[in-house]
Amino acid sequence: MNEQTGPAAGEKDGRAEALARLPALLLPWYDENKRSLPWRESKDPYRVWVSEIMLQQTRVEAAKEHYRRFLAELPTVADLAACDEKKLFKLWEGLGYYSRARNLQRAARIVAEGGFPRTAQEWKKLPGVGDYTAGAIASIAFEQPSPAVDGNVIRVLARLLGDGREQETLKGAFAAELAPAYPPARRGDFTQSLMELGATVCTPAAPQCLACPLFSLCKTRSDALPRRKEKAARRRLQKTLFLFFDGARLALYRRTAGVLKGTYAFFSAERAMNGEEAAAFLQGAGLHRFALGAPAAHTHVFSHLEWEMTAYPVFTQEDASALRLPAGESADAPFSALLYAEKEAVVREFSLPSAYRWCLALLP
Ligand code: ADE
Repeated sequence: MNEQTGPAAGEKDGRAEALARLPALLLPWYDENKRSLPWRESKDPYRVWVSEIMLQQTRVEAAKEHYRRFLAELPTVADLAACDEKKLFKLWEGLGYYSRARNLQRAARIVAEGGFPRTAQEWKKLPGVGDYTAGAIASIAFEQPSPAVDGNVIRVLARLLGDGREQETLKGAFAAELAPAYPPARRGDFTQSLMELGATVCTPAAPQCLACPLFSLCKTRSDALPRRKEKAARRRLQKTLFLFFDGARLALYRRTAGVLKGTYAFFSAERAMNGEEAAAFLQGAGLHRFALGAPAAHTHVFSHLEWEMTAYPVFTQEDASALRLPAGESADAPFSALLYAEKEAVVREFSLPSAYRWCLALLP
């Protein structure tokens, strides 16, 4: 298959055939192996809905107890619609993303007035309900043939079909291809069987292929798919840091741009230097009487960037903010930006990010 354009016409038939076999393979497996979860005890749309919102960004284990407590306090959609925000947020405490709770209540007020939607398309009109959640609720609570394609389901189907396209592309493709494979009955169970297989067997790492009901159909039988988005290689920068220290105070500056804007930093030249080069650099900058201490090295990894740093303590009574950058050198900030502060104050009061904080160990 072409990785950009997707399956060719002949392949599409093969895919549809494989997907059409899923209910017969997955439903008996689901009956035998499904986890007993509190939201699986009822098809009440309110209950299903609350569980799916909780599960949007929360692990199953963490959601269980919250789900029980929430429904004990707010057993109907009318209770949720009428609940005050303080109580609602208390019930949501620990689940995070409080906007989910707020949207859930906004939607509950709409539903309390107009009744529950039935189809995924209608569910999607409510605040906080996206494609996945709408598909899940409509199939589980109303037996609609509406797929719910989340990361678990993408993983299962990408491996099953040997589809190496990117996850975002797969999401839309699978939703469309899966809908015709929905069985005439037990549609909610079918949705949940796909989720369940992804959560318990076809896991991101170390999938249990030998225990998988889809083994005979599967084109991958390993964790080789789905294809991960290629990350741009991190840019690497080499830096030499100087911690000017007069015995009590040290020199630092406030960053006004870049990844750590607003935080404090030590002076750094933008290249690697050994001890001799570092001493020559400082002399070239106009520092006369100083002693270099033993350096330490550290690599700090940002999401898009790595700093490979070597830091030298510089013991001197001369004012580092009066130095001048030697010709041909570059630095994160000019010497003139340096200000002095007591070491203890720096430790307690300055926001010194972990990219720099490690250097403090170099000082007595
Ligand atoms: N994740 C999202 N919805 C779920 C459900 N109904 N059961 C288990 N895990 C889920």
